[in-house]
Formats: sequence, structure tokens, C-alpha cells
Amino acid sequence: MAAPRVPNPFVPGRGRIPPYLAGRGDEQRRLLDLFAYLEQAQGAPRDAILSGPRGNGKTALLRWLQREIDAGDGRCDVVWLTPSDIADLDQLATSLVPPKRFTALRPDALSFSVGIGRLGWELGGQRRALTLLLAERCKRRPLVLLLDEAHTLSLEVGQALLNASQTVSAEAPFLLVMAGTPGLHRHLNDMSATFWTRAEKIGVGRLGREASMAALTRPMAAEDPPIAFDDEALERVVAESQHYPYFLQLWGAALWAVAKASGRPRLGLASVAEAAADFGVQRSAYYEDRREELERAELLPVAARVAGAFVDRPTLRSDEVNAVIAASSGADAVAEVLRQRDRLAATGFIWKPPDSEDAWQPGIPSLMSYVVEHGAPPAPE
Ligand SMILES: Nc1ncnc2c1ncn2[C@@H]1O[C@H](COP(=O)(O)OP(=O)(O)O)[C@@H](O)[C@H]1O
Ligand SMILES: [Mg+2]
Repeated sequence: MAAPRVPNPFVPGRGRIPPYLAGRGDEQRRLLDLFAYLEQAQGAPRDAILSGPRGNGKTALLRWLQREIDAGDGRCDVVWLTPSDIADLDQLATSLVPPKRFTALRPDALSFSVGIGRLGWELGGQRRALTLLLAERCKRRPLVLLLDEAHTLSLEVGQALLNASQTVSAEAPFLLVMAGTPGLHRHLNDMSATFWTRAEKIGVGRLGREASMAALTRPMAAEDPPIAFDDEALERVVAESQHYPYFLQLWGAALWAVAKASGRPRLGLASVAEAAADFGVQRSAYYEDRREELERAELLPVAARVAGAFVDRPTLRSDEVNAVIAASSGADAVAEVLRQRDRLAATGFIWKPPDSEDAWQPGIPSLMSYVVEHGAPPAPE
């Protein structure tokens, strides 16, 4: 009889975290430090914002925190939302304060006026009602709200939520943790001038070299029988991944499949060469998606010029990025240059980690060369 098929550990199912969450000890500690206030029945002193280009593990960190809280003493609730779940205030209130669970908060028991219908709370657009309802709810049960893809939050819901979080955390155990692309900074500034400044900002970028190795070796070692790497094979793969979590995961999946198919529990350079074909196909598809995203946003020519400036330079200062944008787009008004820079950052093509010096870096390093090759405008005649 054929052996049962086992799922590839490097392809975590929906809602799952990677087999080994490597190199995020500092980020994890900072999140748990905020959560510690809720365990003391207090609101968190700050909201947390995870930001970084896609594929670096923001969702993975949120999922990890959700699991930590779920595995706790059961005294705290955790709610996971994305902006598509919360089109308006009523949906937000209903998700955070499910009327069926918080029956003591029926409208007639509240000192403020709201309605309740078949689908949930009816706040009539009153932001204050959301704040009051959420505060009452958190006094009964501490709540952590995890909001992924927060850069797509609508202005109306975002303003109400940021505002509610501010007030509720001052008087009840509540913590808001948001994750989004580097565009989240501007997006939140449009909702509240001071929110970003006051928040705990956690940049989620590429991993260190040791962590990149562990992201591959740990899950392989946990297989039965354990799968081990030859040193030079591991070196090669980690260098090829550029320490980018999404590429590490693609490599892991391809290598695991090679090891399983061959029945050899040891990965050498030959296995890497075999897995490279599969990895390469997926990486090209990914690059092409990103290139097309830039093309649709009409950013491809400027992205290609910016990419050119990063050849030989790991980082660029703001004035250097601005000069390249001005030269390539013909924009000389400062506002227009900055608008284009914001738009490039919103796609994660370039980013500046929060609370860092003035050093822009490529969001996905080797995407730069891909865009130079496939996106450069024709040379002037
Ligand atoms: N610290 C990590 N260690 C190992 N794998 C990771 C890590 N962070 C993320 N990954 C993997 O990388 C991929 C991208 O992570 P994801 O959380 O979806 O990124 P983002 O939300 O920033 O776009 C996922 O397959 C995830 O399992
Ligand atoms: Mg994500």
C-alpha cells in the first residue's frame, strides 16, 4: 500500500503560522510587553503597528500573537479582522461586541442610544457609540484586536477605530495591533495626525542570516526521518533567498519535495540544483505580479530608474531617492516628487523601516534587477 501523503510543512495552511517562526524574538517580546497590561486588567499604553513590504511575515506575527493569546488562561478575547470584514461602523461594532455574547449590553441597558437589528448593532453612524460600547465590553472581557491589511482600511471606519482605541485603552483592557504595507504610515496619518507618532511601530523586514538558516533547518530537522543540509547547500540556498521570508518558504517547500521524492534525508548541492527549477518558476511568477502591479499604478518607469540607483548601493538617503524620481518623471514640484515616492513605498517597492535613520532600501531586493530588465523605458533617441 502506498505511504499516506503528508502535507508539505513549508506550505502552512490558511491561518497557520510557519513551521518555525525564525528571528522575530524582539518583535514578539515587544508585542507581549503590550499584552502584559491586559493581563493586569489595564489597557495597553500604545497601539502596535507592524509595517513592512509584503512577504516579510507581518501576518505570520499576528497569527503567532493570536495563538499565544488563545493558548493563555482564557481570560482574554482575541478578534481577527481585515478591512473587508468591516465596511461600516455597524459591522465593526458587531464584530467587536457580538450582541449574542454580550447580552448585558442590550440597548435598553445602555446609557447612550443605539439600536440593534437582526444583523447586529445599529449605531446610526455615531462614533461615540462605538467607543462607549467597546469600553463597556472590554470592562467585561479584555480584548485584543488584530487587524491585518490595515492599509486598506476605509477612512470612516479607520477614524472611528483609532479614536475608540485611544479612549477605550485609557479605561479598559484593550489592545489594537495593526499590520500593513509601508503605505500604512501615510494612510494612518490621513486618519489621525498623531496616531503614528504615539504608536509602538514595529518594522517587519528581512531576516538575519542565522534566522534564515533556522527557518529552513528547524522544520527539516523535525521531519521523520530528519532531513539535514550539507553546509554548502545551506549557504547557497540562504544566499539565494536574500533572507526574504517568502523566498525562504518557497525554497523550503521545493527542497522538502526533492528530499521526499528521492527518499534521501540529506540535502546537498545536487538537491539544491533540482529544487532551483521549481523555486525559479515561482519566483518569476511573483516578480511578474509585482512588475504588473507597478505597471498598473503607472509607476514602472520611475521604479526602473529608482532600481537603477540601488545597483551597488544597499540604501539611499531621501534626497537621493527624490533626485532620481525628479529626474525620471520630469516632476520638479516637491509635492509631486514626494507623492510618487509615497506611491512607490505603498507598493513596498522601496521602504524605510520605522524609527530608522534616513535610509531607504529595496522592499524585495532582487525585484530591482527584474524591474530594470523588464521595466526600463526605451533609451531616448
Ligand atoms: N519569521 C519567519 N520564519 C519563517 N518563515 C516565515 C517567517 N515570517 C514569515 N514566514 C513565511 O513567509 C511567508 C510570508 O509571510 P506573511 O506573514 O504572509 O508575510 P506578509 O504578511 O508580511 O505579507 C509565509 O509563507 C510565512 O509562513
Ligand atoms: Mg500579510
